[in-house]
Amino acid sequence: MTIGLLTEPLVLVLFSNIFAAAGRWEEVSKLREEMQIKGLKKEPDCSWHDEGRGLNLHPLSRMVLPSIISKLAASYVFSRAAYLSSCSRRMSNVPENSVYGGPKSQNPDQRVTLNNLRKKYRSAEPITVVTAYDYPSAVHVDEVGIDICLVGDSASMVVHGHDTTLPISLDEMLVHCRAVARGAKHPLLVGDLPFGSYESSSQQAVETAVRVLKEGGMDAIKLEGGAPSRIAAAKAIVEAGIAVMGHVGLTPQAISVLGGFRPQGKNVASAVKVVETALALQEVGCFSVVLECIPAIVAAATTSALRIPTIGIGAGSFCSGQVLVYHDLLGMMQHPHHAKVTPKFCKPYGRIGEAINKALLQYKEEVTNKSFPSAAHTPYKISPDDLNGFLTELQKMGLDKAASAAAAASTSTSEKTEGL
Ligand code: KIV
Repeated sequence: MTIGLLTEPLVLVLFSNIFAAAGRWEEVSKLREEMQIKGLKKEPDCSWHDEGRGLNLHPLSRMVLPSIISKLAASYVFSRAAYLSSCSRRMSNVPENSVYGGPKSQNPDQRVTLNNLRKKYRSAEPITVVTAYDYPSAVHVDEVGIDICLVGDSASMVVHGHDTTLPISLDEMLVHCRAVARGAKHPLLVGDLPFGSYESSSQQAVETAVRVLKEGGMDAIKLEGGAPSRIAAAKAIVEAGIAVMGHVGLTPQAISVLGGFRPQGKNVASAVKVVETALALQEVGCFSVVLECIPAIVAAATTSALRIPTIGIGAGSFCSGQVLVYHDLLGMMQHPHHAKVTPKFCKPYGRIGEAINKALLQYKEEVTNKSFPSAAHTPYKISPDDLNGFLTELQKMGLDKAASAAAAASTSTSEKTEGL
């Protein structure tokens, strides 16, 4: 849009009239405000007066080329729509083919929906899942087109430094969820229900799940385990209208009864339990189930038994998709404690921890030996006149030492700049 044209009173008034004719009073009043803010005045051949609820133009303006007006109006409307869509969260609940929206093709820019996941699953396309805990990790996950972004309670370990996932609270999880929701615009967002926030009753589980969506901005929740009370909780959450991802096999929130982070499904009873639990979760309406740390053969059987996607982690390749923890897959952890908790099944796709370590060491070195900041990173200047005035003021204030320091800095800065 030609900005210059928009500042013309005539054009602003024309827009007002176009929007008024369309009954778009919000835009009309915004344009009026803009005119007032810009201090634009009415001009003699452009009358601008209220007539009831609209604005009237001088007859001259009615003769202005209609095609220009329509182009300008279209451009204004489109740029505003583009602005609004860049501001608003892309919801996965935008109707795709519903009584509200009518048949619509799926916008590739839109958030991944359960329908998209079903389509992938049916066509045997692997589903990609990665965890994220904050805005930058969410932006990275978003940019590469990952299908599901999981705000895992693994945050307890990889972000907060705890030994287990047990200590993280719901309020802490909600902070992570909100940051991720701001950064990840496309993937389906799944928030983990943390330990202690859903085990007491189905009512507690529903209340927590509602908070994860309402306050955390997630699209769905994940809960661990398959005890009857857990299946009942998953059912109640689905009935409350919230999509649920199950999680079986090694369920880290249950290390107290599992006796530590131990793989599951390694004997007949345990392998059968994995399949049974996953089937029970499917029965109550879960849209997907995470299979953690089980033999690939058990994962293959479970995946085959289900009509919903399985997402594997340490469960081999016979799953409908895979999930890894962001920090683990990036090779982010350098601290010996973290090296200890990076699981065996995790493939580091980067050595980001080493890169961070190297950069921090270099920064420390350059600050210590005063090579940072160099002239290249000292962008703000004072003009010679202002410098002289400043030195005089410092002297008047009796700050002779400060004046000498400023004068010396000015010589050394200009020498450095010349040397560039
Ligand atoms: O919390 C988490 O990150 C998880 C994944 C490991 C599945 O539950």
